[in-house]
Amino acid sequence: MAGFAWHDGRLTCDGIDVEATVARTGTPVYVYSAARLRENHAAVRDAFRSLDRTSDPLIAFSVKSNSNLAVLEVLRSCGAGFDLVSGGELHRIRAIGADPARAVFAGVGKSDDEIVEALDARIGWFDVESIPELETIDAIARARSTRARVLLRVNPDVDAKTHRHITTGKRENKFGMRIADVEAVLASLTSLPGIAFDGFHVHIGSQLTDVEPFRETLERIEALIARTRAAGIPVHTLNLGGGMGVTYRPEQPAPSPARFAQAMAPALARANVKLVLEPGRAIAADAGVLITRVRFVKQGEQRRFVVVDAAMTDLIRPALYDGHHPIDPVLDPIRDGTTSPCDVVGPVCESADFLAQDRALPPVTRRDLLAVRLAGAYGFTMASNYNSRPRAAEILIEPWGSRVVRQRETYADLVRGEEVPPVELCGTPSTTPSIGRTGIEP
Ligand code: LLP
Repeated sequence: MAGFAWHDGRLTCDGIDVEATVARTGTPVYVYSAARLRENHAAVRDAFRSLDRTSDPLIAFSVKSNSNLAVLEVLRSCGAGFDLVSGGELHRIRAIGADPARAVFAGVGKSDDEIVEALDARIGWFDVESIPELETIDAIARARSTRARVLLRVNPDVDAKTHRHITTGKRENKFGMRIADVEAVLASLTSLPGIAFDGFHVHIGSQLTDVEPFRETLERIEALIARTRAAGIPVHTLNLGGGMGVTYRPEQPAPSPARFAQAMAPALARANVKLVLEPGRAIAADAGVLITRVRFVKQGEQRRFVVVDAAMTDLIRPALYDGHHPIDPVLDPIRDGTTSPCDVVGPVCESADFLAQDRALPPVTRRDLLAVRLAGAYGFTMASNYNSRPRAAEILIEPWGSRVVRQRETYADLVRGEEVPPVELCGTPSTTPSIGRTGIEP
């Protein structure tokens, strides 16, 4: 299995020494295994191959999980398509020369400009989330004398049993359309000549560790497909979304892609459709680590704090979703076998700035390197510049060598695009009465 492992007490990635590699950029830095990305992509593709009508499911990697161009290129070159949610993500896949026809454009709030960009790029499919959105896409497509290929996103009202912030398939969530609305739309397709209906989309949440909600969802969708076909409307494509979980903690193991596929197999066999999947985490999470250096070890009143140079600005999952990421020293992870509880915290001025709380770690000291594991998905892509911290560097490791695929941001990057108004606009009303009360508004 490709990826990260300790050999002789040193963290390696596909045979390459991680400590030596990160010396090129300093820390914090994300490190990705290209080989592991390829393996994970193949595992998803192979799991669903026999369930696809053409034995060639489209694995549309969810760009929001990891949008580094080098990562996208690794996946493009092994045949992946892409799941996009913004014009910016479309720009990224075009920057690597990927074919937009192998991409889906999802999201509840597409702007008119984004719809135009996607139509002009000849996007494969729009995942449509509401009737007003469908009408807008129809109008824009007609005005451009084209048709948009559309999958209607169904909200099946199924509980994905995951963290409430990443649940999307319940009635109260903003995503998708009620089945009744979907059927109303299908009945009025002839009044939408700019829309080429191609099938359905469903995504009930992320980090699912139970196959049952997938199975339940598929039963509902399969019945909808059968009703739609019975009404004389062909259904070619079914986009199953993403959501397959990974094992962040051993006590909460995630099923393999093959197990997820198996749970959906009976309904998918009946549905007989072209399959699209939008996995993000299942491909990227364990292909990446965040390497950070210990700045200080501080003994508090009740706890030991390991203060590191990475922060919630680099990896927000622990603060936002109670996300658990295994953390180990890059060198001699076992040490002498003794561990003691500590909080691994960053330098940001927030109590929510932690990477782990009450975690058993071996003794660590100033300047030790730590590996925050399973950080390849929703790590860098959710990074921010809060506290004016430059965002981290990123490195891609191939079995034959490594490459810095994103430079660490500089202080100049931090202020790019900002401007201090000319001094005469900053005056007080008494000295510059002609420019209004605030001194800025005309
Ligand atoms: N498709 C749609 C429509 C989605 O909304 C998502 C994720 C995916 C695919 C990819 O899901 P995945 O296979 O990665 O589970 N930031 C959160 C996760 C947010 C997921 C948002 N949508 C986290 O760090 O856990």
